[in-house]
Amino acid sequence: MHLTREEEKIYEGEHGWANQTAMKILVRLGDLFGATQLIPIKSAHISGVSYKTLGDAPIDFLKSLVENKVKVQVPSTSNPSSFDPDYLPRDFAPEQVSKQALILNLYKQMGVTPTLTCTPYYLQSPERGWHLAWAESSAVIYTNSVLGAWTNREGSPSALAAALIGKTPDYGMHQPENRQPNIKIKIETELKTETDYGTLGIHVGKMIKNKIPIFEGLPKNVKGENLKQLGAGLASSGMTSIFHYKPARLTGLETVSIGKRNVENTLESLSTASEKPNLICIGCPHCSFAEVKTVAKQLRGKSVQREFLVCTSRYLKEGAKEHVKTIEKAGGHVLCDTCAVVTWIKKPIMTNSAKTAYYVPTMNKVNAALAPLKECVETALKG
Ligand code: F3S
Repeated sequence: MHLTREEEKIYEGEHGWANQTAMKILVRLGDLFGATQLIPIKSAHISGVSYKTLGDAPIDFLKSLVENKVKVQVPSTSNPSSFDPDYLPRDFAPEQVSKQALILNLYKQMGVTPTLTCTPYYLQSPERGWHLAWAESSAVIYTNSVLGAWTNREGSPSALAAALIGKTPDYGMHQPENRQPNIKIKIETELKTETDYGTLGIHVGKMIKNKIPIFEGLPKNVKGENLKQLGAGLASSGMTSIFHYKPARLTGLETVSIGKRNVENTLESLSTASEKPNLICIGCPHCSFAEVKTVAKQLRGKSVQREFLVCTSRYLKEGAKEHVKTIEKAGGHVLCDTCAVVTWIKKPIMTNSAKTAYYVPTMNKVNAALAPLKECVETALKG
């Protein structure tokens, strides 16, 4: 890979061990994927924040970076952590709480903004054509597919390295020829709810792995929130970083049809809980303002009989005070900084998110009931 003189100096260690390490990570990655240069990025989004998923292993590495006084070179946001300090279940161990606080503090010292959300695009939406280095597969696929910015699906070390250098290797999603569809998915059933979109994503992701799908047959005015669920599902069961959903005249593509039974069967297989769980969790990926408003509307003047959590970012919660008040008056709670997958939950969960239902059996060893928001709310109210 060609490096500029300045990049070479960093690579040789003239700007310290931490910058050198970051540069080496980027060059290694670039060499692996055939990049010829580094390109500047507008922002980075960093995963590897939750102590629950991270564990102790990377803490010393993060400490050494901070000791070397490195700072991020571009606006950098962070993925959810393992708890919301305002809603701390009593059974969290003090060590879990202190280790999480330490990780957040280390990132903060490097200049990473503690957004602690997987939907950073609701805080500041990247512009079309911007090059980014984002981790968090659901944010990557939404950004590439819906917002039109360009990012590879980074891991936490490469997103952090890109943030520290302000650049990323020029390969994959940064090159137009790698963003083109190579499989057509014909939708031959009506997708009625956000849960149907997420379930479709899980089904198709499993089938196509890292191919790039173009969907035919989605409604013209499909909502961003439904595309968010579709992308989150696709990127959970497969490795896809982009999908297309606008009509295009393409010939000669491999074509797969998806019918009602495909979606229903996948939904059934994701619903592993035998009974309706007492814990209901909405907001994977983190809710938009419109989603918080919809939940509030459904709960207005009512009272939930089960634990009802709505996950979103702290910034969005601040901006949706009126709706948050309605949800909390009904006995629900708007949870920030975390989600059902990256926190410690020990009981079965009901969710409208196919991604959560896909992950909790392995990540949290609990079963899930998957159903659309309306049914989740009705269950919460019934007790
Ligand atoms: Fe976000 Fe957690 Fe889902 S990080 S995408 S809410 S698994």
